[in-house]
Amino acid sequence: MFGSCEYRCWVVGVAHFRYFCDSKMDYLPKAYISQQVMHRQRFIRLSRLRKRINRKERSGGNMLAIGSDHGGFELKELVKEYLNRQNIPYQDYGTCSTAAVDYSDIGLEVAKGVAAGEADTGIIICGTGIGISITANKVPGIRAALCTDSYMARMAREHNNANILALGGRVLGPELALDIVKTFIETPFSHSPRHQARIDKISKIEERYCIK
Ligand code: RB5
Repeated sequence: MFGSCEYRCWVVGVAHFRYFCDSKMDYLPKAYISQQVMHRQRFIRLSRLRKRINRKERSGGNMLAIGSDHGGFELKELVKEYLNRQNIPYQDYGTCSTAAVDYSDIGLEVAKGVAAGEADTGIIICGTGIGISITANKVPGIRAALCTDSYMARMAREHNNANILALGGRVLGPELALDIVKTFIETPFSHSPRHQARIDKISKIEERYCIK
């Protein structure tokens, strides 16, 4: 690529440049250099933190609470397999078989877990998703969204900042159900002021009608 003369010039040029840089470093006060290093480290720390927050927002949070009645048990097990594959940590609030239990008991436990901050988001499943979502929405701070397709799951996060996804184990095929779960988990809230203002109004309603 180089003729021998050009190569020699290039080597000499690089050596001169290195010498220039080294001697420049000698002129720079040590305090200035360490300040630059500190700035650089702080920049790296901040961008790591920003990346972590973005990842957390995308996934809707770290810990997930999951629960179902007997009508949602099979789908719950399928969703857990998906969560395992994605390395998403979760806490299972039951039920653990197809023996009949009341959706209202499980819905309440998952909702209490999310409201108390034990989990960042939740997934609740009963036969239709109706009974268990009605139950969860009675707990202050819970916005449970019953979704029957992936578009609803995306809107539930983007517009409503829903913190619980409700599914019907007897009305959804496994492929669709898992796509709804994936969409819900991966979509962040839009943080749009107009959507936030509407959510704030829901909180006001809770405050007004909540019997302490
Ligand atoms: C249980 O049979 C069924 O009623 C329940 O899973 C749910 O669909 C209620 O909304």
